[in-house]
Amino acid sequence: MKAFKVVIVGGGSSHTPGIIDSLIANLDRFPLKKLVLYDIDQDRLDLVEKLCSSLIAKLGTDCEFFTTTSPEKAYTDIDFVFAQVRQGGLKMREQDEKICLRHGVVGQETCGPGGMAYGLRSIPAVFKIIDDVRTYAPEAWIINYSNPAAIVAEATRRKYNNYKILNICDMPVAIQLSFSKMLNLEKYNDLEPTYFGLNHFGWWTHLYDKEGNDRMPELKEKILQFGLAASHDKHHSDPSWAHTWQNFKEILTDYPDFLPNTYLQYYLYSKDCMEDMDPNYTRANMVMDGREKEMYDQVKKLDENENFEVNLNLFNAFGDFIVDVAESIAFNKKEKLLVIVENNGSIPQLPNDAMVEVPCYVRAWGPEATVIGPIPTFHLGMLQQQLASEKLLVDAYFENSYQKVLEAFTMNKTVPSGKIAREILDEMIIANKGYWPELK
Ligand code: G6P
Ligand code: MN
Repeated sequence: MKAFKVVIVGGGSSHTPGIIDSLIANLDRFPLKKLVLYDIDQDRLDLVEKLCSSLIAKLGTDCEFFTTTSPEKAYTDIDFVFAQVRQGGLKMREQDEKICLRHGVVGQETCGPGGMAYGLRSIPAVFKIIDDVRTYAPEAWIINYSNPAAIVAEATRRKYNNYKILNICDMPVAIQLSFSKMLNLEKYNDLEPTYFGLNHFGWWTHLYDKEGNDRMPELKEKILQFGLAASHDKHHSDPSWAHTWQNFKEILTDYPDFLPNTYLQYYLYSKDCMEDMDPNYTRANMVMDGREKEMYDQVKKLDENENFEVNLNLFNAFGDFIVDVAESIAFNKKEKLLVIVENNGSIPQLPNDAMVEVPCYVRAWGPEATVIGPIPTFHLGMLQQQLASEKLLVDAYFENSYQKVLEAFTMNKTVPSGKIAREILDEMIIANKGYWPELK
């Protein structure tokens, strides 16, 4: 069987152990002959390497392994690049969240002005990765997890036509895993979805089991009665994710046509979500005091006692999906997976060049979108507003336009007024000095 050479970009992240864990669990279907962790920060690489030493030992001797801060070493002779970088780190995530909350707007990693601020940092960082990859491994596949995926996908479409670049997100599959469990099924892909939307902004319209029965009506009834089963993957079982899972029932009660992506809570109930957030202690703080601190604590314990067994469950991001995507490309498996793709008629009322999230057959040459067909006015209106906001932001990046960032913020459903949009923007420009393009 063919074996592959993979580099994880952002190898020093607390999500890396989960990805390595999934790679190792699936070596039989996606064999590896090289695994590289690449990061700009060698200390973080050392930390993750130490933390994952028991996992790395399972790679076997026929798989080369190393960490590096050199792009040349990282990308030379590589088949797959798994990118999951956070430009500005959690410190800047904290700024994104807190600046918004100070102005009474939801402070969220990928939604609203916080997500767009992150977008303007992420775009150049992802471009740098792609340029470096193309220098040292022109034909490698780049599977990008870096957020905000919707904005990044639109930016990479414009600059690279997304040649051998695929943007993905684990949220739909994480939610689908809960759906499966509620129906006494095992895996997220025991249900075949029909789903449409943008990243972190979409709905399920059907969920077929292996026999071809649409289980959505039954599932809806269960959720309306009992609520959505809490997460079954380790990452989203973190206690601070609990209210997200609880809010699901409320969304479905108010808008019962389709099953929502959990991220819709921030748009449909912006004010309530904002009021639930602590402006002095946001999700970034929880992550810094949670899984980030845990990494150092676990390694410290290991340093003190070489027999200490690291608890890798603390860091298990949902890495299986990225392996499923890579495997489908590598072996032309044509698995039907939810990924981000150029619309080209899949949702006929949206422009061809919208980057949508729909089920795609993932082939050796990339994702082939399935046809969704016409969607109802309510969902279309929401999507058009969000899409306009995202497109304006990417315009702003390429044109260095203050006005277009202002329009992108104003257009976003989480922002109640143009005045607030401007106040947030002006604070964000200062906070993002050195990360954002110079706006004129
Ligand atoms: C989900 C989303 C990711 C996002 C993450 C944040 O997995 O799909 O795009 O980055 O949640 O989780 P965190 O634990 O960092 O708040
Ligand atoms: Mn995501």
